[in-house]
Amino acid sequence: MKKVITYGTFDMFHKGHYNILKRAKEYGDYLIVGVTGENYDIGRGKLSVHDTLATRIENVKKTGLVDEIIVEEYLGQKIGDLIRYNIDYFVIGDDWKGKFDHLSRYCEMVYLERTKGISSTELREKNFEHYDIGIICDETDDNEIVKEAKLVNGFEVRNVYSPDEEISLKFKEKYNIENIFYDCNSIIEASDIVYVRCTIEKRVDFIRKALEKGKHVIYDSPATFKTKELMELIELSKEKKVILMENIKMVHIYVFNQLLWMTQGGLIGDILSFNCSISKNDDARSNLFYDLSSLTLLPMLKIMGQDYQKADYMVTKDGEDIEFASMNFVYPNARAVINVGNKIRVDNQLEIIGTKATIRMKENWWRSKSFRIYKPGESDAELYNTNFEGNGFKYLIKAMSTMLKNERIESMGVFEDESIKIVEILEEIEKTN
Ligand code: CTP
Repeated sequence: MKKVITYGTFDMFHKGHYNILKRAKEYGDYLIVGVTGENYDIGRGKLSVHDTLATRIENVKKTGLVDEIIVEEYLGQKIGDLIRYNIDYFVIGDDWKGKFDHLSRYCEMVYLERTKGISSTELREKNFEHYDIGIICDETDDNEIVKEAKLVNGFEVRNVYSPDEEISLKFKEKYNIENIFYDCNSIIEASDIVYVRCTIEKRVDFIRKALEKGKHVIYDSPATFKTKELMELIELSKEKKVILMENIKMVHIYVFNQLLWMTQGGLIGDILSFNCSISKNDDARSNLFYDLSSLTLLPMLKIMGQDYQKADYMVTKDGEDIEFASMNFVYPNARAVINVGNKIRVDNQLEIIGTKATIRMKENWWRSKSFRIYKPGESDAELYNTNFEGNGFKYLIKAMSTMLKNERIESMGVFEDESIKIVEILEEIEKTN
C-alpha cells in the first residue's frame, strides 16, 4: 500500500485545496492530511486564520478523499510523521517548491502546480472588516506597529501626523506610509484606530480628541499620571462605545499568560517575594520613568494583587526628570520591590519567590519568550518557552481585532482597575516628590 501525506492550513476551504487533495490521493492508496494547529499557526505569525481547527478538519473530511487527518502542532513535526506513518510520497503545492527537498531522504517529494487565481489570503481579505490605523507621534520610531499590524488581516497603518512636520515627513518615508496629515483633527477623522505614540505630557489631549470623535485608541502607557484624567478618558470611551487600549504588549504574549497561570494558580506555592527591575536609556523621550513604571507595576498588581498594606517610594531626580525609583510594597505575607532606572542602569529582571518554587525571567522580561522555574532540591530548572518574531505588537492588535469582532470594549489584557491603580501609584509618587 502506497501512503501519501500532505499538509496545510485549509482555511476557508476552496477549490485549490480540493484540487491538491484530489491529485495527492492519486499518488497512492492512503492519504493522510496534516492540518495546522492553532498555536502552531500563531507561533509562526499566521494570525489571521479565519476558521477554527475543528471547522478546517471538518472541511477536509467532507471531501471524502482523505483516509486520516492529523494535526500539525510544531515545527519539525513532519520528519517524525514521515517515519511514523511510513510515507511514500509527500505532496505539496509548488508555492513550497524546493523548501522541503531535505525530506527526500525519507520519501519522494512531489510539488504540484497550484490552482491559479485563488487563495485563503484572498478570501480572508474579502471577508475581513478593514481598519485604518493613524499614528500620532513625536518621534520617528514606530514601535514596530507598521510591520506588525500588517500581520493581522484587515489592519494597516495608513496615516501619520506629528505636531512637528519634519517628523511626519521622515516617518512617512521611513515606513512608507500612504497619508500624511498636517493637523490632528483630520488624521483622527481619516482613521478608524488612532495610536497615540508620544511623550506622556501630550498623550491625554490626543487620546481625548480621538475618543470624542468616536475612534478606537491605542496609547503608550500610562496615559497620564493624574487619576482623574484617566477616569475621564475611560468614561468617555464607554460613552462613545469605543476601545481604549493600553499599549502593554506583555499581557498578550503566551509566556506571560503561562507565568500568570503558574503564579495565580498557586503552582509555585504562596508567594513570598516579587522583585522586578527595569531600566532604559533613551534621550529622545522625556519622563520615560512613567512608561517604565507602568510596565513594571502591571505584573506586580496582577500577581500580588492590589491589597498591599503599605507602600513607600524612594526617588532621585535629575532636574525635573526622575532618574531612579525604588518602590516597596508590603503585602500581608509578602514583599514586592520594584526598581526603575531612567538613565541609571539596573539589570532587567523579574523574580518571583514562592514557597514551592522560584520563577526567573532575565533581560527583557516584558517581551520575553521564556522563563525558568527553580524548585528546591532540583539542580535543573524547568524551562517554559514559546517562539515569536518581533516585539509582540501583532498580538495586541489581534486582541483588538477579537474585541471588535465580539463588540467588546473592555480589554481583558489590562483590566480597568489595574490601569487606574497604576496611575494612582504614579500620582502618589509624583505628589510625594
Ligand atoms: N493550494 C493549491 N492551490 C491554491 C491554494 C493552495 O494547490 N490556489 C495548496 C497549497 O500549495 C498547499 C495546500 O493547498 O499544498 C494547502 O494550502 P494552504 O496554505 O492551506 O492554502 P492557501 O490558499 O495557499 O492559504 P494562504 O493564502 O493562507 O497561504
